[in-house]
Amino acid sequence: MTDKYAVIGNPISHSKSPQIHAEFAKQTNQDISYKPILASLNEFEVTVRRLIDDGYKGVNVTVPFKLQAFLLSDTLSPLAQSADAANTLILNRKNIQGHNTDGIGLINDITKNLGIKLQGKRVLLLGAGGAAEGVFQPILEQNPTILIVANRTLEKAQKMVNKSPNKASASTFGALQGQFDIVINATSTGISDIALPIPSSIFATECLAYEMMYGRETPFMAQARVTGAQVADGLGMLVEQAAEAFYLWRGVRPQTAPVIKMMRSA
Ligand code: ATR
Repeated sequence: MTDKYAVIGNPISHSKSPQIHAEFAKQTNQDISYKPILASLNEFEVTVRRLIDDGYKGVNVTVPFKLQAFLLSDTLSPLAQSADAANTLILNRKNIQGHNTDGIGLINDITKNLGIKLQGKRVLLLGAGGAAEGVFQPILEQNPTILIVANRTLEKAQKMVNKSPNKASASTFGALQGQFDIVINATSTGISDIALPIPSSIFATECLAYEMMYGRETPFMAQARVTGAQVADGLGMLVEQAAEAFYLWRGVRPQTAPVIKMMRSA
């Protein structure tokens, strides 16, 4: 019998997840269906409960429901716990298991696809919202020499680094000093084409500038490119977080490189 999965969000029509999971299923001979589901803002829980009644085995959760998914989960993985958000749920009639694969997605894209280690590097994380929170702990687990979290609202960055005060510190954009080997933009500024008030001197020679958004050249990417940095967008992270969710559901690891290539040429 075909096992049913879905991605829930609002909006959802732009989601690439159905296409990615269809490719994974084809590649690994898994008999699954995967649908995009639009939930109205106050109907996340009823939507998930309805899907459980319909026999769905799992869902991905995207904006703006990752916190609600976290709160709805009966059990949480350590990564969902540290992110205060869940993007992958394993469903059955007895319980809802919440996971977060965003951080693993970012780390796998940087280390495996781009071939760059975070260990021993000076890392700068720009932003302290939901997207940054999802990747903060997984970055620390890679043992960078230093992790600075810079945010427009300093208190939010401080709150995040207080979870691991010996390993990370907080900054405003204006107070940033020195150079970084890896700079990750986890702010939402790319959506509105706003440039961040960061000096170009922060990009070290041979720096990796990683934009977590995908699908367009953001001001952050353009600024980094001028300095000669290697620039990456978040398409690889999107496919990698999907692969980790697929693995949690199916116990099979799909190959991501051909899917990233296909999505990029589409
Ligand atoms: P997401 O889920 O995409 O992370 P979010 O939780 O609303 O969305 O967080 C958005 C992030 O982008 C925050 O770090 C936010 O900074 P504040 O914490 O100060 O709000 C950042 N951001 C959004 N617009 C920004 C802007 N114009 N300049 C600088 N940072 C911005």
